[in-house]
Amino acid sequence: MANARGEFSSRIGFILAAAGSAVGLGNIWGFPTQTASNGGAAFVFVYLILAFTLAYPAFMAELLIGRYGQANAVTSLQKMSKTLLQKRFAFIVGFGGIIFASLILSFYGILAGQMMSFAVEPVIRTIGFESIADWVVVGSLSRNLLFTAFFMCLTLYIIKKGVQEGIEKWSKRLMPLLIMLLICLIIYVFTLDGASLGLKAYLNPDFSRVLEPNLLISALGQAFFSLSIGTSTMVIYGSYISKKENLISLGAQVTLIDVSIAFLAGLLIIPAMYVAQHQGVAIFAADGSLIAGPSMVLTVLPALFDGMGVVGSVVAFTFFVLMTVAALTSSISMLETPVSYAVERHNFERKKASMIIGAVIFMISVIIISNIEELLGLAIVIATEYGQPIVAMLACIFVGWIWHRSEILKELQQGNAGVEHSLFWKIWPWYVKFVCPTAIAIVFIHFLNRSI
Ligand code: PHE
Repeated sequence: MANARGEFSSRIGFILAAAGSAVGLGNIWGFPTQTASNGGAAFVFVYLILAFTLAYPAFMAELLIGRYGQANAVTSLQKMSKTLLQKRFAFIVGFGGIIFASLILSFYGILAGQMMSFAVEPVIRTIGFESIADWVVVGSLSRNLLFTAFFMCLTLYIIKKGVQEGIEKWSKRLMPLLIMLLICLIIYVFTLDGASLGLKAYLNPDFSRVLEPNLLISALGQAFFSLSIGTSTMVIYGSYISKKENLISLGAQVTLIDVSIAFLAGLLIIPAMYVAQHQGVAIFAADGSLIAGPSMVLTVLPALFDGMGVVGSVVAFTFFVLMTVAALTSSISMLETPVSYAVERHNFERKKASMIIGAVIFMISVIIISNIEELLGLAIVIATEYGQPIVAMLACIFVGWIWHRSEILKELQQGNAGVEHSLFWKIWPWYVKFVCPTAIAIVFIHFLNRSI
């Protein structure tokens, strides 16, 4: 039975919701473009290793905090604290995550809005409204405002309904849809000339690049973003897991789904880039970097679909619906993070909290949209290169250094009797204590050096 604050009703409900949070534009847009500009399979190889050895342990730390506290991020961390100082530290970590989840949503909503606009464009064109379709693809201020607002409304609609009726129900509907669309698109792209070259480039590793610092840093940053780490999001999703569940295997399954979908997205996007190249579009610069950068998804791919007539319109529609669906299951997890805090700590009614917080985040989106050249990149850097690593590192320090080993074990034993004899228990506590904070600190310092 679900408790009063809400709980996922089933194991599959949690897995799909958490995988829904993890799988997003980071997987389908970020991962393939990073892979293409970082030597193909060498990046994939490093990414897989880092995802399981560093991101998964940090991800488990956040899930565990939430499952233990059965509350929003701040309250959960404070339940683990003993002294006043620790409680203050808990507030900074939990609230920091909530702020960064909200900031990520403010720019994520803009990007997702763009995806939506590209999804409706072929439909509008097909029914004959050419001038509206032209307006939709030109990234004007009004277009961005309208579609960001649409996307935020969808996110709000789901979050207002709560954990089971909103998050769980919609994740169960949208995640299978996402996987189906992805597979259909991969099959289609594979039938086109040039795709096999892309496949080769994707799967042929250039191992000489494996130890390049830039590649390592990008791969770790990507893994953290992809698993939604350092935003208190997994703390709150962890808090909705029943004490009967085996947290370690749930976390591993979500990580596995997340990396698998990133891998599948690579099978779609990279061959599609080579198909475009085959048709004469310049994709790669002489040094192997992407000419259009990450925005390739909004320029090269639509151009590719455009040249394919009616089939192209169907493919374009399917592709951008896929992007929108992926973004939506992530954005609901971002909005849930501040909403659950407002509901539990300040006794807001859920609907009201969702509306107010949604409106505030949308206002931030409006500010970003109005100065998109300067502010979009800045918001991305602040949230993903500063915010996420810092909060993730502090959360690991909390679990590794403040929480007592015996208490951690007790929490892990719920739903997993005998965990004390497992390999996980032999390794993981050291990981969160030493390895994760150090690795995150190294990445962070690298980011700092790069931005100076
Ligand atoms: N993991 C999501 C993605 O890959 C993004 C995300 C970040 C979601 C932080 C929630 C919190 O797109």
